[in-house]
Amino acid sequence: MAEIDKEDVVAVLNRILESELAGVVRYTHYSFLVFGFGRIPIQSWLREQADESLLHAQQVGEWITTLGAYPSLAIGPLLDSHTFDIASILRESLQAENLALALYRELLARVEDRSVALEEFARQMIHVEEMHAGEVDKMLRRPGEMSTSAERPAGQS
Ligand SMILES: [Fe+2]
Repeated sequence: MAEIDKEDVVAVLNRILESELAGVVRYTHYSFLVFGFGRIPIQSWLREQADESLLHAQQVGEWITTLGAYPSLAIGPLLDSHTFDIASILRESLQAENLALALYRELLARVEDRSVALEEFARQMIHVEEMHAGEVDKMLRRPGEMSTSAERPAGQS
């Protein structure tokens, strides 16, 4: 089994850590801005997402120190479109989730057939993040609408 390129893998793990930490801040921030009839379930869903991002950040940070490297204290980009409408909040979340997913895929490409444990971790996270993105996509559909957002023409939510 070939060895992992530690520096390269740690660099990707640090980018994932920053993006998960941004998720903690973003979901917490959004959870304050939900008003209207749907407030209670949507606010608690957003808080759950913040908790999940924190768990992911902690898992990734532990991997970084397991590899003998220093975890980043930076945070990924945070967009604040000053929006209060749930569809825009969810669209921003979906964008950020797809970015995180791409980073986990980068991780997988770097550890595949090189580290069983890291490969397992990357696959597990891709699974979780893909299911999560699918869930957000369904929340963005109108009742009865079957096509995913990727299949709809641009500009249509
Ligand atoms: Fe995550």
